Amino acid sequence: MSEVQQPTPTMPTFDADRVRSDFPILLEALPSGRRLVYLDNAATTQKPLAVIAASDDYYRHANANVHRAIHTLSQRATQQYEGARDKIAGFLGAGSRDEIVFTGGTTDGINLVAQCYARPRLGPGDEILVTELEHHSNIVPWQMVAEATGAEVVVVPIGDDGSVSLEDFKAKLSERTTIAAFAHISNSLGTVLPVADMISAAHDAGAVTLIDGAQAVAHSPVDVEALDADFYAISAHKLFGPTGFGALYGKRALLESMPPYQGGGDMIETVSFSGTTYNDVPYKFEAGTPNIAGAAAFGAAIDYVNALDLNAVFEHEHELLARATAAMQDIEGLRIIGTAPGKAGIISFVMDGIHAHDIGTLLDESGIAIRTGHHCAMPVMERFDVAATARVSFAAYNTAEDVDALIQGLGSIQRIFG
Ligand code: ALA
Repeated sequence: MSEVQQPTPTMPTFDADRVRSDFPILLEALPSGRRLVYLDNAATTQKPLAVIAASDDYYRHANANVHRAIHTLSQRATQQYEGARDKIAGFLGAGSRDEIVFTGGTTDGINLVAQCYARPRLGPGDEILVTELEHHSNIVPWQMVAEATGAEVVVVPIGDDGSVSLEDFKAKLSERTTIAAFAHISNSLGTVLPVADMISAAHDAGAVTLIDGAQAVAHSPVDVEALDADFYAISAHKLFGPTGFGALYGKRALLESMPPYQGGGDMIETVSFSGTTYNDVPYKFEAGTPNIAGAAAFGAAIDYVNALDLNAVFEHEHELLARATAAMQDIEGLRIIGTAPGKAGIISFVMDGIHAHDIGTLLDESGIAIRTGHHCAMPVMERFDVAATARVSFAAYNTAEDVDALIQGLGSIQRIFG
């Protein structure tokens, strides 16, 4: 089974220009007067008016603390905050809203699992399995708990095309593997990992799984129960929502077995100097006044994405990927890094004799925004023996016109430096 759901054949034509018109920042002319071509969506996506309005609406009409008061504003705030939890649970296919913990983003969710699930269970000789293509957020938290517990981080290698093979993954699993943590889609290469099969293999070996879903959720439907993921972490800002907010899905029994991460308000049941008891899941992991505006805005982002139809988005982004890939392959001296079959709408590349940062700077002068550097994935750069790459990443609002502007920009750079 493909890990990313395939589009239905009866899908109507996707109107990316109409989607684009929902995003105020994309309609602003740059200081140069040029149209913004935003191709840095793996770093963060732009926000539709509906999301901006939801944040504004919360502060204008509902600003109060949640779960703490019976007055009207507090009830409104709680409704928006908890309403977002329902929407996220539905969006991810969670069996229960209690399995959705609000976090500061994917990084925060992974750290929570590393500290609250893994750390108490790990000891010398235990293993944490990750892949070589992980974002630093899915490497460093595991290195930290390994250092604290004497456990070892074991790494599944990447193939020459940027893929992670199920066989290599299985070969690194052992009875000592406590947790296997891997991306659904690589942020640096666009590789789609065979996550359902990897989860199943990890379970056969007795390991629990954490999936970094940051790059997956805005581009294709995800169903955590169908995948049988134990933990699945996402960020709002890569899904047209606000920065500094996200969600961690965790199977209820696992969340219940974990001690809280931080102490404070709302995460308790009773507090006394003779002993404190904790709230139920998910609240025991949400200490302090939360990012209520973030939740409200994320709820609006989920509504927006649901209305878009992620199957149609998937097909649209793959058309852009195919158009860009074909044209880039014709540019002399340009090499795409990461060519795994079925990859997502992310293209990392290098150009002979031109530093990635120069590519980024020159494209920016033409109004084209891409990311350059190591993409928080230094082991990937090391694997492919490059210091940095230039990276293009697509979202639902990108158009064929954006791709053509990119190709024209790259052609000019090649002529200047070539
Ligand atoms: N993880 C983000 C990226 O890939 C920041 O650019």
